[in-house]
Amino acid sequence: MKLEIQNISKRYSSNIYGISDFSITIEKGILGLLGPNGAGKSTLLKMIATVNKPTKGIICLNKNNIVKDPNYMRKQLGFLPQDFGIYPNLNAYEFLTYIAAMKGVGGHNLKPRITHLLKGLNLIDAAKKPIGTYSGGMKQRVGIAQVLLNNPTIVIFDEPTVGLDPEERVRFRNLISDLANDCIVILSSHIVSDIDTIADRVAIMKNGTLITHGNQENIIQKVRNKVFETTIKKEQLSIFKTEQLVVSTSRKKNQLIVRYIADNPIDNSFEKEANLEDAYLYLTKMN
Ligand SMILES: Nc1ncnc2c1ncn2[C@@H]1O[C@H](COP(=O)(O)OP(=O)(O)OP(=O)(O)O)[C@@H](O)[C@H]1O
Ligand SMILES: [Mg+2]
Repeated sequence: MKLEIQNISKRYSSNIYGISDFSITIEKGILGLLGPNGAGKSTLLKMIATVNKPTKGIICLNKNNIVKDPNYMRKQLGFLPQDFGIYPNLNAYEFLTYIAAMKGVGGHNLKPRITHLLKGLNLIDAAKKPIGTYSGGMKQRVGIAQVLLNNPTIVIFDEPTVGLDPEERVRFRNLISDLANDCIVILSSHIVSDIDTIADRVAIMKNGTLITHGNQENIIQKVRNKVFETTIKKEQLSIFKTEQLVVSTSRKKNQLIVRYIADNPIDNSFEKEANLEDAYLYLTKMN
């Protein structure tokens, strides 16, 4: 499996680009796509999913140009868009049966497959109730089930964990890890903790461009020996923030423990082990 994205741009209007001159090669495994709001994640994923066409550039899956031959992609794709619409009057079972028909999935395996997915996503008890009565997290899980119906070999989730509670996030992660052996899986998020435990590789984007791409170790390397903690008074925080790149703060009695990134630490700081969150913040703020 190889997905090659070569110099693609998406122009929405004369001066608005969703993506500009973007290239990346993605192989099997789980890729976490991180970027702040407006970075271009959805624009990129929709072009890979052949929902949109790039203004420039080509996208090849296993050497087939899917801009010209979108069906090559669609046959093996599972896609959860960020704004996933749903049919409120159907129940989960009916909805999945309907999507299966649209994807051309059928046969005697369909019923057990739907039941398996509903179980895996903890929807079996609600499966006979109309989707319109579901919570946001339940609807999101129906969306995830829909992605996996046709045993896709390339799976794209645009912000899949939005609306899921912590327990559901764990279930989702397990489901994805099971799936990932021979597939390309791309997960987007703007929250590092959604992807750092499952992504083999991470791509970070901002303003429609790729800032960095690689395994987590290599990305974390970029802030190694630059992460520190110190204790300050609460009222010093706003000034501290103007001088240092603050990752997080936590309260300690009347004071604050501040985690920050710097080339040279201020007095009374302790070096901390860098993590992906630190690297993400550093790379998106400094670029
Ligand atoms: N249909 C559209 N028409 C015009 N501009 C658009 C359209 N879709 C996206 N954009 C612009 O393209 C840029 C990238 O948007 P995109 O939705 O791809 O970002 P994103 O990384 O998915 O953000 P989010 O985290 O908020 O989902 C933004 O500046 C956005 O305003
Ligand atoms: Mg988006």
